[in-house]
Amino acid sequence: MKLWGGRFTGQTDASAHAFHSSLPFDKRLFKEDITGSMAHANMLGRQGIISEAHAELIIKGLSEIANDIDSGQLPLEGDAEDIHSFIETELFARIGEAAKHLHTGRSRNDQVALDMRIYVKRAIDDLSSRILVLLETLLDLTKEHRGTIIPGFTHLQKAQPTVLAHHLLAYVSMLKRDLQRLGDCRARTDSMPLGSGALAGTTFPIDREFLRTELDFSEISANSLDAVSDRDFCIEFVSSLSILMMHLSRFCEELILWSTDSFGFIEISDAFATGSSMMPQKKNPDMAELIRGKTGRVYGSLMGLLTLMKGLPLSYNKDMQEDKEAVFDAADTVSQCLLIFNGMLSSIHFNTQAMYQSALKGYTNATDAADWLVKKGLPFREAHEVTGKLVQYGIGQGKALEELSIDELKSICPLFDPGFFKAISIEQCIEARSVPGGPSKEAINQAIEGAEAYIAHIRNNSKNAEEEGC
Ligand code: ARG
Repeated sequence: MKLWGGRFTGQTDASAHAFHSSLPFDKRLFKEDITGSMAHANMLGRQGIISEAHAELIIKGLSEIANDIDSGQLPLEGDAEDIHSFIETELFARIGEAAKHLHTGRSRNDQVALDMRIYVKRAIDDLSSRILVLLETLLDLTKEHRGTIIPGFTHLQKAQPTVLAHHLLAYVSMLKRDLQRLGDCRARTDSMPLGSGALAGTTFPIDREFLRTELDFSEISANSLDAVSDRDFCIEFVSSLSILMMHLSRFCEELILWSTDSFGFIEISDAFATGSSMMPQKKNPDMAELIRGKTGRVYGSLMGLLTLMKGLPLSYNKDMQEDKEAVFDAADTVSQCLLIFNGMLSSIHFNTQAMYQSALKGYTNATDAADWLVKKGLPFREAHEVTGKLVQYGIGQGKALEELSIDELKSICPLFDPGFFKAISIEQCIEARSVPGGPSKEAINQAIEGAEAYIAHIRNNSKNAEEEGC
């Protein structure tokens, strides 16, 4: 059954029909669509816009359709134009004439806007709980590795020593922002569009406030034209996911590097690595590489959405049907990546000795040597120059700064005394960085406490939301 046959005398070309049909991909909105239609029918009955008897029949029919789709009895296939017409047609087949009253005061334009908003809100909730699980894994590792010394890098060159906990906490900060971004996006998605009709509202006395509460939205949309034209929430959603993927991708890149023979910092567990068909010795970090690769795919969805929307005149245009695959694919991809990344990370073996040995090499304590000279009264620029000479001398001798003798040191600068050696020991370099946000024991403990409080707060909020039946 077509929803718009009256004005037409000719048939749609078969290839044109196949081309514009969205059922193959929007079928996954069936629950959202039925939820929206049930609330709409309920409201129409209460407002006396359709008879109570019809409303009841419609709601019962829709709930049976939902059950049959869920159980697999009613396959989501056939020649319907989209999920909305599929369900309306099925309803007519089951309850007859009453079904023809469901679409009163509604258009597929506000209907699909509603479905997508319900979908995105739910997807945000699901993805947020996966991010939370990853945050907990990170925090467990952080606690375990408060004292694991590693070299910190800039330009991928060894820079200053730090601890693995500090490095992991950097990702805690990123994931926390990802959660916040998704939360912000959810707040703007939480706007109920029904009542906007095709574009200019409806002449029926529909109760938007009732629909808002029934469908668990925090506000109703303010402008009917905007409500059917707006896909900002899809763009924001996929944009937040793109940033999240960028974070996972950077982490994956580090894990790939760290797992090489040259670094030797980690070993990815057999469960999350693969072999080579030709080279028997190989253990490849495929999962990390795939997550890094899939980042491009999520960015692609974001670019697709932005480009899709950029030249559209108000209000609804069929171009907007193209929003779905981008949003669904981004959500599915990120969900999978979070799961795999969490499994991979929690089963990694950290070679703490290799990390420590690596941090000892490469003059990672040179800044501390310069700082020591500053504390002896030298201006920083001069201290920098002296330490640079020291490093150059050390390279020539094949010695680390702490391996130079006091005479060698004094030959470069008379200010040196034996107190220097303690100040540039790797442990001291880390402990001296006690600024909040730094790697000293105290700073790390404080950061862990902060992260734990944040996670507990989020867990508590979602528990309360569940109890309130959200
Ligand atoms: N399948 C359409 C979409 O996803 C539903 C809305 C159709 N509206 C219309 N005026 N043709 O965008």
